[in-house]
Amino acid sequence: MNAPALNNDAFQFVATFLRERSGLSLTDDKLYLLESRLQPIARTQGLKDIAELIAKLRVKGLSPSVEIEIIEAMTTNESMFFRDTSPFDHFSKVMMPKFHARGTQSPVRIWSAACSTGQEPYSLAMTFLEAAGKYPGLACDILGTDIAEKVLHRAREGQYTQFEVQRGLPIAMLLKYFRQSPDNHWEVSTPLKNMVRFDSVNLLAPFQGLGMFDVIFCRNVLIYFDEKTKTAVLERMADILSPEGFLVLGSAETVLGLTKRFAPCDDARGVFVRT
Ligand SMILES: C[S@@+](CC[C@H](N)C(=O)[O-])C[C@H]1O[C@@H](n2cnc3c(N)ncnc32)[C@H](O)[C@@H]1O
Repeated sequence: MNAPALNNDAFQFVATFLRERSGLSLTDDKLYLLESRLQPIARTQGLKDIAELIAKLRVKGLSPSVEIEIIEAMTTNESMFFRDTSPFDHFSKVMMPKFHARGTQSPVRIWSAACSTGQEPYSLAMTFLEAAGKYPGLACDILGTDIAEKVLHRAREGQYTQFEVQRGLPIAMLLKYFRQSPDNHWEVSTPLKNMVRFDSVNLLAPFQGLGMFDVIFCRNVLIYFDEKTKTAVLERMADILSPEGFLVLGSAETVLGLTKRFAPCDDARGVFVRT
């Protein structure tokens, strides 16, 4: 049986809760998403439906861990290796030579913000290793972060199903950088795993303690935020990007009309430089 529709008041309450805690901008047409994703939580909490769950949320009757479960359930964690290909080509063909020319005294610092289950930072690590021979002495330091602990756990484990490795990962890279586990999963090899650190970072919170980066990949997450939130996140990213640093967004995302702190790279869609 379908859950009864939420009244507008309850919908607005949960939409505000999600916007304030994760940046998610929930429009009225996403009611079905709310119902399908929160219904299982209502059930495990022994509640009749999501209306009851939201009523409890409203009176602060849910534990912090259930509140986090609600936020995580509403995130979209879709990812794949070498998603859209061109940003990774740009990284090895344009960014790496540029950083090599700058000097190799410090590693290239790369942040995969909103990295989900880790395919993006591991793709960056593989891209780096494949090109590194041309840039002697160049090292990199890759940080993958996300708001959701459940995806970070998977990213740290570095285990992927056959279906996941078939999406975007060339077979030569699979054989070179992964090993097959007895249960038919593919696990990221130890040297690759050691190149990436994972941590929990909410893009709405201050970026204190992260340090400065040379490259920020922030792909396919800003699309879920409203304009004001997108601008605020982008401006705080500009503050921690080195002067000649690069920002890489998803193919449907841009800085244009949001901030003047970045300019598009002429030769690559979704790649921006700090102004
Ligand atoms: C669609 S995935 C994108 C993964 C990867 N960047 C890619 O392009 O394949 C979006 C990720 O953003 C994360 N996310 C959503 N809101 C966030 C926030 N406020 N702070 C950090 N991560 C967030 C979600 O948990 C999810 O894993």
